[in-house]
Amino acid sequence: MESSYNYLMKINLDRAVELIKEGNVLAVPTETVYGLAASLYCEKAVKEIFHIKGRPSNNPLIIHVNSLEDIFSFIKENEKNRLHFELHLLAKKFWPGPLTLVLPVEKTLIFESVRAGLSTAAFRIPSHLLTRELLKKTGPLVMPSANRSGRPSATEYRHIENDFGKDFPVLDGGICKCGLESTILINQEGRWEIARLGILIPEDFESTLGYVPKILQKTDSILCPGQLHKHYSPKCRLEKEGDIVLGYRNRIYLNKKKVYYLGDLEDPFTVAESLYRTLRKLDEDSIESVFLDLEIPEIGLWKTIRERLERAAIK
Ligand code: TXA
Ligand code: MG
Repeated sequence: MESSYNYLMKINLDRAVELIKEGNVLAVPTETVYGLAASLYCEKAVKEIFHIKGRPSNNPLIIHVNSLEDIFSFIKENEKNRLHFELHLLAKKFWPGPLTLVLPVEKTLIFESVRAGLSTAAFRIPSHLLTRELLKKTGPLVMPSANRSGRPSATEYRHIENDFGKDFPVLDGGICKCGLESTILINQEGRWEIARLGILIPEDFESTLGYVPKILQKTDSILCPGQLHKHYSPKCRLEKEGDIVLGYRNRIYLNKKKVYYLGDLEDPFTVAESLYRTLRKLDEDSIESVFLDLEIPEIGLWKTIRERLERAAIK
């Protein structure tokens, strides 16, 4: 992609702070995936994010902050009391970390473009130390995943170079530890529901909420617009057959030309960590089509992995 950026690509924390304060967009690591960051208060930069990603304007952005107090300052005044107790419980257990909460907000405090016109906004306190340092110095940042819309997310510096060009600024934080996006919870008439499966699984919330939150069905996807879009797809076609395999270690594939391993069948976290890297590797190797092995367990983190792979396979 042609880029209008003239910075050296890898930048340090001080330069990242400067760029954000000057109203620019740059890539920033988090523990889940890299994000494309802009100041919540710079509408020009927010619009630039939609433009750079090719993101539909009806798909809202997650606001990343450093503390629960920051989040409370945006919540709709007459909802604060109702949400107070559970928000503290969820924050204590899961933040900083890979949880995103969709909350009713005072609309005047957050640009319409960030919310995509909704009366809610999504919030997350990330745990990556570099992201937290950055947030301390810049204040709230909007951050969608740092990939071109529809492509696999970026989990390392190289992936951003591939999507946005060699001179796009990146705060390099190494390889993302989780490799999959945060889990998104939305509050519906007093109950929390899962709007996007992520690295946290429904059962993780049982001890905090007293129940396992339901996964919102596709028909409710208007509640989480991002779920409507084709996503996570490499150029390589993921098919039901073929002699190159996208599969798992500890499984034997007979008479196949080559196997791309997504990770270990004994440990879904290894699959999560390498998922987007492996999808992107198919394109780097100019593989046109593979047999996608979807014979995986139906429990826990495997559900998230299946959802990502099925969406990646949509033509
Ligand atoms: O792990 C993550 O969440 C990463 C890192 C960078 O933090 N971010 C990320 O952002 O995955 P993005 O833009 O790729 O996905 C954000 C999702 C979209 O599906 C969007 O529709 C949903 O969050 N979302 C944002 N605001 C929302 C809202 N007010 N109501 C419902 N869904 C919302
Ligand atoms: Mg994304």
